[in-house]
Amino acid sequence: MKILITGASGLLGRALMSEFEGDTSFDVLGLAFSRPKGTLRKVDIRDEDGVRKIMQEFQPDAVIHAAAQRRPDIVERDEEAARTINCSATEIIATISAEIGAFLIFISTTYVFDGTNPTYKPSDRTNPVNIYGRQKLEGEKISQTHNPNYAVLRVPILYGQIETIEESAVTTLLNTLVNQDNVDLVDDCCIRCPTHVDDIAVVCRQMCERRTTDPESVSGVFHWCGADFMTKYTMIVTIANAFNLPHGHLRANPVQPAGETPRPKDCSMDRSKLVSLGIGQTTPFTEGIQKVMKPFISKNYS
Ligand SMILES: NC(=O)c1ccc[n+]([C@@H]2O[C@H](COP(=O)([O-])OP(=O)(O)OC[C@H]3O[C@@H](n4cnc5c(N)ncnc54)[C@H](OP(=O)(O)O)[C@@H]3O)[C@@H](O)[C@H]2O)c1
Repeated sequence: MKILITGASGLLGRALMSEFEGDTSFDVLGLAFSRPKGTLRKVDIRDEDGVRKIMQEFQPDAVIHAAAQRRPDIVERDEEAARTINCSATEIIATISAEIGAFLIFISTTYVFDGTNPTYKPSDRTNPVNIYGRQKLEGEKISQTHNPNYAVLRVPILYGQIETIEESAVTTLLNTLVNQDNVDLVDDCCIRCPTHVDDIAVVCRQMCERRTTDPESVSGVFHWCGADFMTKYTMIVTIANAFNLPHGHLRANPVQPAGETPRPKDCSMDRSKLVSLGIGQTTPFTEGIQKVMKPFISKNYS
């Protein structure tokens, strides 16, 4: 089975590449833009001709569309620039994947919900509270409209093997933890289910495999997330405890912070639709975060 991965140089994309490359029944091509390392092909996914050339040459059976502008504050600051990636490029990829008869998995977000009525099932009413959430919801609709062989996989806050500590909204908490100069208030209000990218990569592989035997079962909208319901405060304390780092300078903030960009309070998702198909993998947060952060902590803080 030939698999094309967009955003292959990103946090999730790198995990997708190693999951599919690790299985000889797949032939994988990864696309990147500013970081086209190793075997990755450089293309701007906003360039329709460039994308069509690569996809027609490679003829993938499945396309996992993970490329995005996924930082809500950046999207809020330049909505139109983000739209070209999150919506226009998605239309290009959905249209061409349909032309060549490829199954499309569009990676979406839990931010399509407003966070007031968890736990969310895939069929629940969407109501994004920020521009990023609205653009990803539009991307879902574009995928469905332009490629009948589509699946949407909504995922929450991700962590995994990082190139920099700031790459994931989970690992970047280390900066707050090690800066002991100030008493910091850390959000203990918004519920998140931090999810290891390796788990999402396994889910995508299993969905592609299921596609060959029972295509209907993996068509439509799906949710996957970690099983730990946490706030940023409980994540930071878990990291502190895992590495014996002091956290006395941190205080739990029970009030939702009023940031530059509105964020939903609790978008916890129900993952039973994939579980019922026998699809899924769950890395416990304490185990996953320890593995991911150990190299950074050993190098810089021990
Ligand atoms: N990270 C999270 O916490 C999170 C949470 C929920 C949902 N998601 C969703 O999960 C997916 C993957 O996110 P991620 O965290 O892996 O993102 P990421 O680390 O920011 O990576 C983004 C990827 O998109 C590529 N890209 C951006 N603009 C491009 C363009 N014009 N042409 C070609 N490629 C382009 C980047 O390529 P280069 O770096 O090579 O330029 C990079 O590979 C996204 O759809 C995101 O919305 C992420």
